[in-house]
Amino acid sequence: MEQEILPALPGLSRAWEYVRSRAPFRPRLAVVLGSGLGEFVDTVEVVTVIDGRQIPDFPAATVSGHRGKMVFARLEGVPLLLYQGRYHYYEGHTAAECALPVRLARLLGCEIAVLTNAAGGINADFRPGDFMLLTDHLSFLLPSPLRGQNCEQLGPRFPDMSEVYDRSLRDCVLAAAREESIPLHQGVYIQTAGPNFETPAEIRFYRLAGADAVGMSTATEAIAAHHCGLRVCGLSCIANLAAGMSGQALSIEEVQVNAVQSGPTFRRLLRAALLRMAREELPGADG
Ligand code: HPA
Repeated sequence: MEQEILPALPGLSRAWEYVRSRAPFRPRLAVVLGSGLGEFVDTVEVVTVIDGRQIPDFPAATVSGHRGKMVFARLEGVPLLLYQGRYHYYEGHTAAECALPVRLARLLGCEIAVLTNAAGGINADFRPGDFMLLTDHLSFLLPSPLRGQNCEQLGPRFPDMSEVYDRSLRDCVLAAAREESIPLHQGVYIQTAGPNFETPAEIRFYRLAGADAVGMSTATEAIAAHHCGLRVCGLSCIANLAAGMSGQALSIEEVQVNAVQSGPTFRRLLRAALLRMAREELPGADG
């Protein structure tokens, strides 16, 4: 990316300058670590950690349990950029602000973005502790992160969204799940604006609309990542049954406890998937 595009990227230019002067290498894969996955960082070789609060023009994260760190790390030699924590629309950030980290990843040289989250299961076959590979998403409940002035150098004004979640990357995750004997569903994710959980009537509506899981992140990031040329992969940990499906009230505590419980298996799946993506999709990444 050239210097002259900087003025067209509000919130990103100073951030990019700050981070790239501290980046120890060019990362090839970016991973947004959702609830329960933060400790993935402890399983890789950490090279440089940047506190999100130090990054100029990046908004302050407000959610407890979301740490807001940018971690440059190597996984068996593969250069990664890990985000421990993310921006959520429900915190009051705009959709474009929620997309800043993935855009920054692109500017730093990443080619692939792996977006992870904890989600509520809408599909009747899903159980807490299951995993779902995103095949597509529904994002109409909140504005597009691309709303406003477009930066042509980053991507087109009207980007195609026919295949946001890259098929070859999906094949990598499916193969990794088989290799690790981890059952993996595939399905459609719907992003709500949050922060309230859904009503049972909303969940019935989303199911009719084709959604298999619901959460409060990821689609916004996926749109911006796809727009700027990142190949996108999305993975959900099903942390609970969605509203009205279990006869019990939902709580963030239940979501977090289940996400943490699934953490070790989710980390194993992620590790195997990243290694396979690096090997099959990124020539020279493990050099
Ligand atoms: N709804 C919305 N977001 C979520 C849920 C849910 O049931 N579980 C985890 N994130």
